[in-house]
Amino acid sequence: MSLSQGVRVRVPASTANLGPGFDTLGMALSLYSWIEMKASERTAFHLHGDEMGGLPTDKSNLIYKVAQMVFEEAGQAVPDLEISMYSEIPLTRGLGSSASAIVGALAAANGLIGSPLPDSKLFDMATDLEKHPDNVGASLFGGIITAVWDGAHADYIRIEPPADLGTLVVIPDFELATSKAREALPAQVSLADAVYNISRSSLMTAALSAGRLDLIRAAMQDRIHQPYRVPLVPGMTKILTEATSHGALGVALSGAGPTMIALVDRNDSRVEELSAYLMETMKAEGISSSCYQLNPVAEGVQLLDDINNRSFLDMIRGEVTA
Ligand code: HSE
Repeated sequence: MSLSQGVRVRVPASTANLGPGFDTLGMALSLYSWIEMKASERTAFHLHGDEMGGLPTDKSNLIYKVAQMVFEEAGQAVPDLEISMYSEIPLTRGLGSSASAIVGALAAANGLIGSPLPDSKLFDMATDLEKHPDNVGASLFGGIITAVWDGAHADYIRIEPPADLGTLVVIPDFELATSKAREALPAQVSLADAVYNISRSSLMTAALSAGRLDLIRAAMQDRIHQPYRVPLVPGMTKILTEATSHGALGVALSGAGPTMIALVDRNDSRVEELSAYLMETMKAEGISSSCYQLNPVAEGVQLLDDINNRSFLDMIRGEVTA
């Protein structure tokens, strides 16, 4: 593959934490970003879609900067790039938009130079940028990820999502920066709260591995981040308390929020009722929102092989689902 011919990648959104697994658990979701990257005479950007407005179109662009980290790590020089991007992942809503951009940029840049870096290296680089492995791990590897980060290296296990597992996400029409949602957290938690979370995160991981959807309700509970983020997301306490009465298997803040995610059994006829409940609860708080039924996806970031067949935008038109 020549440098000027370029590469295209598709990278999934993700939800982090799944309740108790703060900075540890992540799951890839069926909402995507696409990046095309080519070596070029002059750096240029083509950013398409509502979610791209306001992003830099010079060498301070995150995609460009992350790509340069890959080239540096691989000992290659590709100083100028033509980058096209389209995303259906809403920004700063807790669905891993920045993680998907980082992972997409890493995978595209690595693909552009013949994939010299292994996925484990890309995971370490992505986690170093995000500072926690949950979203980037899910976007990179797909499925459900449980991961630990020692400050230099991330170890992980990927879990195949249970076949019947689905999700409903209710996305409020306001942004919440991850930095602000992390500033709300305490520096220390009690031993009792730590044990509360360790036990539930362990049960959640084992339940998802074993396909035990019946245990999600007991496992998907948290005391170390959600209680402190309640003031930032109107309706959150009500949804955390009541969603299981409307058909959710369990419910949590998605990542740092403000999106809330309910896990559902895809065969459950109450999914419509749950969707209406989630949106009505937000509306009662004066917040307009959108609710999507998203599925866990097994595939992480993928290099697409149709770069010669159709234009970037024609490819997007053929792929967009949301
Ligand atoms: N684990 C992170 C958090 C995800 O909850 O802050 C957000 O990026």
